[in-house]
Amino acid sequence: MDTKELLDAGGKHLMAFTKRFPIALVRGEGMRVWDSDGKEYLDFTGGIAVTALGHSHARVVGTIREQATTLLHVSNLFHIPQQTHLAKLLCEHSFADRVFFGNSGAEANEAAIKLARKWAKEHGASDRGDIITMRGGFHGRTLATVTATAQEKYHHGYEPLPGGFKYVPYNDLRAVERALDSRTAAIMVEPIQGEGGVIIPDDGYLPGLRKLCDEAGVLLILDEIQTGMGRTGKLWAYEHAGVSPDIMTVAKALANGIPIGAALATEDVATAFSPGTHGSTFGGNPFATAVGLTVFQTTVEEKLPERAARAGARLLERLEALRRAFPQRITAVRGKGLLIGIDVTAPVGEVVAACRDRGLLILTAGDNSARLAPPLILENADADRGVEIFEKVVAGG
Ligand SMILES: Cc1ncc(COP(=O)(O)O)c(C=O)c1O
Repeated sequence: MDTKELLDAGGKHLMAFTKRFPIALVRGEGMRVWDSDGKEYLDFTGGIAVTALGHSHARVVGTIREQATTLLHVSNLFHIPQQTHLAKLLCEHSFADRVFFGNSGAEANEAAIKLARKWAKEHGASDRGDIITMRGGFHGRTLATVTATAQEKYHHGYEPLPGGFKYVPYNDLRAVERALDSRTAAIMVEPIQGEGGVIIPDDGYLPGLRKLCDEAGVLLILDEIQTGMGRTGKLWAYEHAGVSPDIMTVAKALANGIPIGAALATEDVATAFSPGTHGSTFGGNPFATAVGLTVFQTTVEEKLPERAARAGARLLERLEALRRAFPQRITAVRGKGLLIGIDVTAPVGEVVAACRDRGLLILTAGDNSARLAPPLILENADADRGVEIFEKVVAGG
């Protein structure tokens, strides 16, 4: 099939659940990907904050090859060494004591919601099950996680939605205080809202939420599915705030593109899951966790959070200069590490398409923001190249 035939066949046989860019990507190496016509692109999407080590990373490829010829899958009826090793490593490098593995971010958040409700019922009244979430947030597309996602545009047509979710504005501690009551089991929040537009809360927000949770005896669930694994310049974004959650969810970059998700919890909270209360056929299988192990080790050994902090600061500085040069075209630039949002005045879809035509892949976020979530291996030359292309697009109108 040539590219046109491929796109036509996709249009005919795939459910049109999302709007796709009109290219098919067939190969990737480091910061770059190539389409089916051989055109090269600088990839500042990282598969939506997934391929933090870049494409075809040698260590990841090595583990994939080795594990594929050793053991792919056995089920959680058995002990799985790679799963245990990855859980141990995650715990050694976070607040957590125990880990549950699933296959996606949404599944990690489902686990977090179920765990929080179960814990709350065991530590309070039987009607304690409400989860407070933040407007503009994003937690996934399953029925529970899309309901946790306090954005009506994602709910439309899926009613009846599961109950037990309460929405409050992001970055508003008073609103959380007002919403908390005897039925609240947990507060669930992204340390930085990614899909919502790279919205960074005030410094006191997470500590304030932690305090409210402690006072009310409810759990703090941090969704670090997009912000985790070094993206914001720390291994976990909560480290910037100096407080830790009771439950944290991780997915996206955890295995650099092999599907995986994880819910991490403290010992006390984790014990709410006893044998038979939750499960997943594929979750934590030898293949996904072997790759996750390699990705996690590489992330730590190669100091990727620190690299993301440095590269992100430089990129932000250059983008801020661009904003000053084109204030009519760029109204705001913000970010932490390599999660960056740029508010543009032109329709963001047109900006993304123009960047793509010039060989730069970027994302959208929120209402009219461009989002950059490049691999954390980003070097100065590629960062500069990306800014140059963005500048040409902005300057060209
Ligand atoms: C913060 C956050 N939570 C949850 C999800 C859902 O993850 P998945 O698409 O792997 O289910 C996403 C995906 O973009 C996300 O950004």
